[in-house]
Amino acid sequence: MYTFFFIHSVSKHTPITKAPTYGNNSCNDDHAHNRDDTSTLLDWNYSFTCLLSSFLLHSVICIFYHRTRNKKPFDSPYTLPSTSPNPTAMSKVDALLKPLQIGKLTLANRFVMAPLTRCRATADHVPTDAMVKYYSDRASFGLILSEATQIQDGYSTFGFEGGIYGDAQVAGWRKVTDAVHAKGGVIFCQLHHGGRAAVPCNLRKELQVVSATTVGILNHKCPGGFAQDGETQPYPAEVHELTPEEIQVHVQLYATAAKNAIAAGFDGVEIHGANGYLIDQFLRDGCNKRTDAYGGSIEKRSRFLLEVVDAVVAAVGADRVGLRISPLNGYNNMSDSDPEALTRYVCKALNSRKLAFLDVLRGDFFTPATGADKWAREAYEGTLFTGMGFELEEAERTVAAKAVDAVVFGTKAIANPDLVARATAGAELNTLDPNTFYTHDDAGYNDYATLA
Ligand SMILES: Cc1cc2nc3c(=O)[nH]c(=O)nc-3n(C[C@H](O)[C@H](O)[C@H](O)COP(=O)(O)O)c2cc1C
Repeated sequence: MYTFFFIHSVSKHTPITKAPTYGNNSCNDDHAHNRDDTSTLLDWNYSFTCLLSSFLLHSVICIFYHRTRNKKPFDSPYTLPSTSPNPTAMSKVDALLKPLQIGKLTLANRFVMAPLTRCRATADHVPTDAMVKYYSDRASFGLILSEATQIQDGYSTFGFEGGIYGDAQVAGWRKVTDAVHAKGGVIFCQLHHGGRAAVPCNLRKELQVVSATTVGILNHKCPGGFAQDGETQPYPAEVHELTPEEIQVHVQLYATAAKNAIAAGFDGVEIHGANGYLIDQFLRDGCNKRTDAYGGSIEKRSRFLLEVVDAVVAAVGADRVGLRISPLNGYNNMSDSDPEALTRYVCKALNSRKLAFLDVLRGDFFTPATGADKWAREAYEGTLFTGMGFELEEAERTVAAKAVDAVVFGTKAIANPDLVARATAGAELNTLDPNTFYTHDDAGYNDYATLA
């Protein structure tokens, strides 16, 4: 673009300086000569000005473009800066293709499919046949993390997410896990409680919206795709702050759900401690204002998380338990005054617990800030995953440099069931359709093309 403006400005004005119109008169020639010099100088100034203007114009367009792209419509809370529709193909993913040991399992490669809410279960949170196809189509990922899966009967965050609290849900998931295993895949269940990120129409009548705090999510609305009544609506401004006794009930919900997940054939569970849901609502001080044993210092804010971890480990064994945290993510009205200290504390507290893995989202859905993965690598001694905004090249470099052990792919896993094959072949990736993230049918769910 700069070259175009520059050539255009020079070619438009150079003929005036090069084509004197003063005949053979020496005086005029001299005059003409002088005029040519001045004119040339002026024209080069003009060209330079054009170049500068085009640069400034380009900068303004870039800023506008990136701002627009990064803006999140309510119905797509996860519209990420990283979701380049057709990233450049690449040919070498040797480090990502190396096997990885987690607990007693050997993963075939280091491509991890992110937990991805897609709202394709029934209103009773029973996995559907569409989900059987969707998950088993992605069995070539070294590890599949399931969508955020509801651990409490009657308490739904996303309206149509899978649940893991009752016989019907366990039986539904069994079909999914069998299909994934039949193709040689490994799948963990993400254990999820939304806390204040829930709307009353998704809750059984006798239940109320709960959290670590009394303050609800104020800065964005629940998208219609997440609500059983289909309406985009505000989250409740005031919520019930869990008492210490109620907290213990919730700790047990995670442990029971973990046992159910194993009964459903999952190879393990990932505790969802990220993205502003219940556990995260305890962890971060932008939300947790408690003054009891579960609030205040980092140690106290981490207490609920660690109690959940210990209960889940006691239920199914540490080698089948992973944890996801997102210390920098502002999604769901979240913030923390010292995310680095919080990350380091949690990592150190986990070291002795010998989990299968820790999955740290490196940044924020809203800004380019990253770095949580680096704090974790320094403080955490176990197997570390990271994700958020990774192109294949960067993922390969990051794993090759041993900065993390595996990379978790979200949007690329949505659009490319065969991401591993495409990356291996250096093939182009499919174009992502964010409009179908949370719709309820096969479009944008089970119709992305695979190679061959
Ligand atoms: C449609 C969609 C649904 C998501 N659902 C979940 C979820 O259920 N649990 C979770 O921990 N993260 C969820 N995320 C976040 C992803 O797991 C991932 O961290 C995010 O997409 C960033 O990775 P990426 O840049 O590779 O897409 C979701 C993201 C998207 C786009």
